[in-house]
Amino acid sequence: MEYIIAPSILSADFGNLQRDIEMINYSEADWFHVDVMDGVFVPNISFGFPVMAAVKKHASKPLDVHLMIVEPDQYIADFAKAGADRITVHYEACTHLHRSIQLIKSSGCKAGVALNPHTPVALLQDVISDLDLVLIMSVNPGFGGQQFIHNTYKKINDLKRMIDGVNEDLIIEVDGGVGLQNIGALVQAGANAFVAGNAIFGTENPAETISQMKGSATK
Ligand code: DX5
Ligand code: ZN
Repeated sequence: MEYIIAPSILSADFGNLQRDIEMINYSEADWFHVDVMDGVFVPNISFGFPVMAAVKKHASKPLDVHLMIVEPDQYIADFAKAGADRITVHYEACTHLHRSIQLIKSSGCKAGVALNPHTPVALLQDVISDLDLVLIMSVNPGFGGQQFIHNTYKKINDLKRMIDGVNEDLIIEVDGGVGLQNIGALVQAGANAFVAGNAIFGTENPAETISQMKGSATK
C-alpha cells in the first residue's frame, strides 16, 4: 500500500515560498496540498490563482487542490489551467455535486469530495464510484493548527465499508490536526493520504518530519 503525505502550503512561510516549495520537492512528500479559501464558505481567506501559479512554477510534485469556496463549478476550469492535478470540492458547497464531479473530470483532473466534520459519509453513496478521492476533514475547515476531531476514525471506517467491492482504489485522505502522533492510528483505520500543515512546518526540520511521517505510515 502506498501512503501519501501532502504538506499543506497554507502553513508555509509565504515570504520564502520558493524555499519551502523546494524543501517539499526534495523531501519524501508526495503531493502539495493547496488550500483555497474564499472568506464565505470558511471564515478565512487564503490565496488564489497568482499564488497557485507561483507554486506550480516551482513544484515538482502534483498539486492537490482543496477548494473551500462556494460555487466551485465557476472556477474548476481555471484551477485545472493553473496546474491542479486533483481538485476537491466540498459536499456542503455543491448543490449539484454530480455535475461538479463531472466538471472536474472533464477538465482533466482527478476528482475529490471533502466532508466537513458534521457531514456523514453515507451522503456520498450515490457518487462514490465516480470519485478518485474523499477528503475527510478532521477539523472544521478554515485554519491550520487546529485540534484533531476524534470522530474522524469512525468516518474512515464508514467510508472503508462503503467502498468495499465498489471503488477500492478510492483514496481516503484526512485533513486537519494530522501529525506523527496520530498517523499510525489513521493508517490502521484505513486512511491512505495525509495532509499536514502545522505538524510539518511547525517543526525544526520539516523535511525530516515528512520522512518520519512517511515512515510511521508505512511500518
Ligand atoms: C484547514 C485546511 C488544512 C490545514 C491543515 O482548513 O484544509 O489543509 O492547512 O493544517 P493543520 O495540519 O495544521 O491542521
Ligand atoms: Zn486542506
